[in-house]
This record gives sequence, C-alpha cells and structure tokens, in this order.
Amino acid sequence: MPAKLISGTEIAKMIREELKQETERLKEKTGIVPGLVTILVGENPASVSYVTAKQKTSKELGFHSIQDSQPADIKEADLLKLIDKYNHDPSIHGILVQLPLPKHINETKVLYAIDPKKDVDGFHPVNVGKLMIGEADYLPCTPAGIQQLLIRTGVKTDGAEVVVVGRSNIVGKPIANILLQKQKGANATVTICHTGTKDMAFHTRRAEILIVAAGKPNAVTADMVKEGAVVIDVGVNRIGMTPEGKAKLCGDVDFEAVREKAAAITPVPGGVGPMTITMLMMNTVKAAKLAAGFQG
Ligand code: GUN
Repeated sequence: MPAKLISGTEIAKMIREELKQETERLKEKTGIVPGLVTILVGENPASVSYVTAKQKTSKELGFHSIQDSQPADIKEADLLKLIDKYNHDPSIHGILVQLPLPKHINETKVLYAIDPKKDVDGFHPVNVGKLMIGEADYLPCTPAGIQQLLIRTGVKTDGAEVVVVGRSNIVGKPIANILLQKQKGANATVTICHTGTKDMAFHTRRAEILIVAAGKPNAVTADMVKEGAVVIDVGVNRIGMTPEGKAKLCGDVDFEAVREKAAAITPVPGGVGPMTITMLMMNTVKAAKLAAGFQG
C-alpha cells in the first residue's frame, strides 16, 4: 500500500488559524501587535519569493509587518546599523535577514548582530546554545516545522530510531538536537549522516523516522529505506519550469519509489515547505508575548 501523505499545507493551515486567534487575544489583552521585519538584500529570485510569502502570511495573521529591501551592494556596516535600528524598535518583535547574503557581507557577523530576543529564525549562537541545553525560546523554523509535522500526525518519536541525512546549521544539526531532547515530541535516538559517512544506506535502512536534508535530488532511493518508515523530505530542488512559468520542484527523496515502501512521506511541494513560514509566525507571536510578559 502506498504511503500516507503528510500534508504540510493542511497542518500549516491549522496552526495559522491557531496563531491568528492567539494574535487577536494578545491584541485584546495587552494592545500589542506582533511585529515582524523581513530584511532582503539584493534580488535573488528564490529569496524574493520566500520573503514575499513571509510578508503575505504575516499580514494574513494580523501582524505589523515591514518588508525592508536593500540593494545588493549595501555596505556591511550599513546593514548592521539597520539591524540595530530594529533591535531598538519596540514595535518590532522579530527580525529576519533573508539568507544567503551577497559575498561581501559576513553572514555570521550579521546573524550575531540581531538581538537574540528578536531572533525569530533561531540562528543566533545564544539561541543555538539554548536549544542544545533544552532551554530554547525559538526553534529554527524548518526543524520546528518537522517536529510539528511528526507531533500532529501522531508519529511517536519517544525511543524511535531517527536518522538525519545532512548536517547543515539550518536543518540537520538543529533537528537532530530537537529530537534528542528529553522532551515531549522528542526523546529519540538520533544518528546524523553526512558527506563523510562511509555507508549511508546502512544507517538510513535502520531509520524508523528518516529526515532527508541532503540538498540533491534522489539522495535517498527506495533500497535505502526501511519498510514502514516515516520519511520527511526537506529538499527543495528546482528542476525546470512548469508550463505556467512556475519553478518545478522535487525533493531529495526518490518520491515515487519510496512511497511504495514507507508508511508515511511528505510530498515536495506541500510537505515541509509550508511549515517553515508558519513556524516563523509562531516564533514571532512568542517573541511578542515574551516582550509583553504575556502568558495567555
Ligand atoms: N534562507 C533559506 N532558508 C532560510 C531561513 O529559514 N531563514 C533565513 N533567514 N533565510 C533563509
């Protein structure tokens, strides 16, 4: 029987509805409106499309949202000054600098400049450290979205064998860290595979939950998957254009073949993707609540 499809689109919609109500309650009780600024440097088409979607969603949820677009040749010092301005703006609770940045700008320096309390991406080393010790305020958005997909589809992580393919700072390392915490929706045994792994299939075949963030199509084929596994495909690979002129996407997993073997699988598009933006919204509401000292 083909795998059950885990629809990020539907789960994200449900969470957004919850967030919309939370935003209204926060407004009503404290007068505070969650504020999000998205800073875009240059015009990288993928980044433009991500930032546009983030702005659209934040407006739908009733946030105060600002799109701050800067030229590709902005000086690093000017970008740091801009971040500092938003660090001190009380109407802004979340600051997101869209990555990647142009080569002349030091990405690490920029991420360090964001006030950790407003770091709704969860990329600041203070927040990375807090995640490591199980004290996170903000989980990075894509891994947080993966955890929500597992929780909300009733996938048991407690004691599960989880294998993560990919060790990026944005997905692989944080999702491994999230799922190994002694917490609800976690407490798994986690293995991370990467380009230095000697026998990738040996590990992936043991996975009850297989999370793939390798960055290339067909990185995981059916022979690498255990019968009945839950497969989360984080890949977003552009493989051409649709007749309507939209980017044609595929994940990192050989979807059609793996679908015949897995118990459940996320599609691309419509799996992890919609969850990432939703988690950014969740973090922004949390940042506003923390700033207001509101527990409701
Ligand atoms: N570029 C690709 N993914 C992300 C993300 O989650 N946050 C930011 N800031 N930039 C990205």
